[in-house]
Amino acid sequence: MTAPTTRDPGRQFLHSPGPSHVPLEVMQAMARQPMDMADPRLGQTIAAVEGGLRRLLQTEAADVFVYATNGHGAWEAVISNLVGPGHCVLVPGTGHFSEGWAEQTEAMGGRVIRTAWVEGHPIDLAAVQQALRADAAHEIVAVFAVHTDTASGVTSDVPALRAAIDATGHPALLVVDVVASLGAAPFSMDAWGVNVVLGASQKGLMCPPGLGFAAADSRAMAVCERNPLPRYYWDWRLRKSEFSYRKFCGTPPQNALMGLEAALGLFFQEGPGQVLARHRLMADVVHAAVARWSEGGALGFFGQVGATRSTSVTTITVAAGFDPEAIRTLARERFQVAIAGGLGPLSGRVFRIGHLGDMNAPMVLGCLAGVEASLRVLGGPCGSGALEAAITRLASG
Ligand SMILES: Cc1ncc(COP(=O)(O)O)c(C=O)c1O
Repeated sequence: MTAPTTRDPGRQFLHSPGPSHVPLEVMQAMARQPMDMADPRLGQTIAAVEGGLRRLLQTEAADVFVYATNGHGAWEAVISNLVGPGHCVLVPGTGHFSEGWAEQTEAMGGRVIRTAWVEGHPIDLAAVQQALRADAAHEIVAVFAVHTDTASGVTSDVPALRAAIDATGHPALLVVDVVASLGAAPFSMDAWGVNVVLGASQKGLMCPPGLGFAAADSRAMAVCERNPLPRYYWDWRLRKSEFSYRKFCGTPPQNALMGLEAALGLFFQEGPGQVLARHRLMADVVHAAVARWSEGGALGFFGQVGATRSTSVTTITVAAGFDPEAIRTLARERFQVAIAGGLGPLSGRVFRIGHLGDMNAPMVLGCLAGVEASLRVLGGPCGSGALEAAITRLASG
């Protein structure tokens, strides 16, 4: 496909659920010159990033490891530190991203037990318990759970998962992927009994792609110590160092770290409670519009249970005969609104609206208007009054 040659005035609205809109303060922080490796300011930036992530994750004691990588790299870090050759993990089905993580684990020599994914629904806790109870020899090292599956737009209940695991008496670690949820939905590593968390920079953390991280508690570090898998770049044992060159297994990704430092600063300046309330409201505004569109019969919510629909992204089903990629292309090329398509099994069946990170009401309304205009041009049978419903929800606070 050839790139558009004309100039599009104004700015494009980025409503992919990652990469998400990056605030100017973060872009400017990243535009600074790199430092020499002995500059104390580098140490201050690293400390601010590690401390900020700990505060955001709500953990006192976990070790935080930051990598020049993406979400797949953060998965790789967790797999290589926790899963030895032939060791087993349980991956509860959440859709495209649980399957991706499971496949990567298998590719690295691990064994994976999966629970079935029921489309439109969160993790099946009864199936998790059944799988853990069936593992009388306690071969399952960890449960790898995706908090918000960005493809389905469904968020699973992590405290309920922890309670379900505990009720079986199984000692497996709980490892949670917060790539799509951190900064957009409540999360509390210590209080929720999560042993390992992993995430990436390009979604709720308001940064460009390029950083991944993992946080591991003492139980997870003990598993890491015993794990015989050969590893180097990802190795938490080597990265547990006060020297930045060892902490990052080489030169730290300085400008990306400066960006994340700035983004965390913005997050705490706004206040965690306010950030989460804003995400709740933005999601409600989008949901109000989708509910109206759905009345026409062609569109609908993919997430079947209202309370489990994510505050980061809304996945919208499209009836057969109505092409989500056509909606997406028209929205981007004619109305300057970039939305996302379906992934994996949802390819060609849905489109997705991201409403996470550095997002406010006019951005969400602009996005909804661009999508509505695209739907009208394409002539799909959509209910009317979506924008009105969105504004009404917004006005009610
Ligand atoms: C929940 C989740 N986990 C993992 C990933 C993989 O991240 P990346 O694309 O940065 O490798 C993504 C990407 O969107 C994701 O949404």
